[in-house]
Amino acid sequence: MTSERYLRDVQYRDSSNLAARANLHARYSTAPVPWFRWVARQVTWPCAARVLEVGCGPGWLWEQARADLPDDAVVTLTDLSSGMLREALTRVSPYFRALHGAAVDAGRLPFVDESFDVVLANHMLYHVPDPARAVRELARVLRRSGTLVAATNGPAHMREVDEITADVFGEPEQRKYSDRFGAHNGAAMLDAHFEWVEWRSYHDDLVCTDPDDVLAYVLSYPPGDRADDAAREQLRAAIVARFGASGAMRITRESGAFVCRAA
Ligand SMILES: C[S@@+](CC[C@H](N)C(=O)[O-])C[C@H]1O[C@@H](n2cnc3c(N)ncnc32)[C@H](O)[C@@H]1O
Repeated sequence: MTSERYLRDVQYRDSSNLAARANLHARYSTAPVPWFRWVARQVTWPCAARVLEVGCGPGWLWEQARADLPDDAVVTLTDLSSGMLREALTRVSPYFRALHGAAVDAGRLPFVDESFDVVLANHMLYHVPDPARAVRELARVLRRSGTLVAATNGPAHMREVDEITADVFGEPEQRKYSDRFGAHNGAAMLDAHFEWVEWRSYHDDLVCTDPDDVLAYVLSYPPGDRADDAAREQLRAAIVARFGASGAMRITRESGAFVCRAA
């Protein structure tokens, strides 16, 4: 599994790799409600909610789901990567005046117990070396009856893309990210700290019409990010072959969120 240094200084140094992946979802999603708006709608927002987002990335949630988020929220954005955090604070500051930020590891949160009404940890617990410890931290900083939303993926997520990568590079040595904290195994870690845990699926598949968007996705993370010219050619040919006569490639999306209530 990738190291903390790789995540902080290479993969998530800024939003460029994540943007290549988000672009595929944004352009080719078939879901009726865009992802971040769906996430925001999973919470019943209290007045002047004190909200912590852990692993906030470039802060896209706060811009893209603005219509579904309370204006009066007091927002604390955190990420392991200071580059990501900077970008998030710049993006979110026009919309939320009560805004704070800190570059911190989800496994060691510098906040006192029960200091937030809502905690968000989206598509990030699978990166943390010890997700059970991070879950314990999320529960610690959440007030009684507060809400945690922890989005992740299931094992079938983007399986057609995994098949292409395996064709070109061989079967991966690493486990899939979702094996560490995914739709199928995350509840076991959450049950230990929350009174109520529910998995909610986001129903979506991608119908892609441009092979180069799929190629950009594959090149944004290992092993694709190390591809030389020959491997890139092979990848592109393998992707084009998947498009077939229809001129489109369907990609499975298996995403959703655990919505949890603190005891
Ligand atoms: C896939 S991105 C998700 C970003 C954002 N939550 C979203 O949904 O768009 C994962 C983010 O988690 C951050 N991250 C990875 N490991 C972390 C850790 N141990 N503590 C805090 N953030 C971490 C990365 O820097 C990256 O910004």
